[in-house]
Amino acid sequence: MLKTAPTRGIDRVLLDEETLRQRIKELGARISADYAGKPLLLVGILRGSIMFMGELMKSIAVDCAIDFMSLSSYAGDSTTGNVRVLLDLRGSCEGRDVLVVEDIIDTGLTLDHLLALLRTRQPRSLEVCSLLDKPSCRKVDVTAKYVGFPIADDFVVGFGLDYNERYRNLPYVGVLKRP
Ligand code: PRP
Repeated sequence: MLKTAPTRGIDRVLLDEETLRQRIKELGARISADYAGKPLLLVGILRGSIMFMGELMKSIAVDCAIDFMSLSSYAGDSTTGNVRVLLDLRGSCEGRDVLVVEDIIDTGLTLDHLLALLRTRQPRSLEVCSLLDKPSCRKVDVTAKYVGFPIADDFVVGFGLDYNERYRNLPYVGVLKRP
């Protein structure tokens, strides 16, 4: 296993680079099998999903297109509950097999809002792949078909995830040091 030294401000490494790479490969293989023969539209949710999306795409063997949306509801470390669409899809998802790619599901409010919106656009199918999932934090009943790692209620950063826009560039997922 590849050892990664925690950066300043990080209490401990939760998922190192090798663990992430292996699990994302497995997710890609499962998705490739499930969507065999079906062109897929991957919808990455900016900005947290960037690294996951890049790594996952490499492991998906079926024909796929990518698009992005940006939604936001967080200020610092807490959700405002008010989900806003900051950037919408460039193309249509009508009649397409859509797979939403998220970095983390916490309260579920972002995903719930997003799925309701995308359903109105009549995709042929709509599923979710999230790298991380905090089931104990749910405020609404929403689930992902593909989950990389269910995790406890720690504040995690790195591999695309931020705290006040910091730490997104860490190549691992770490637990933030709290005062
Ligand atoms: C984060 C994350 C998810 C959402 C999950 O996004 O990327 O989209 O929060 O939280 P929830 O389940 O409680 O709604 P954020 O709004 O922080 O934007 P970002 O991806 O640009 O960091």
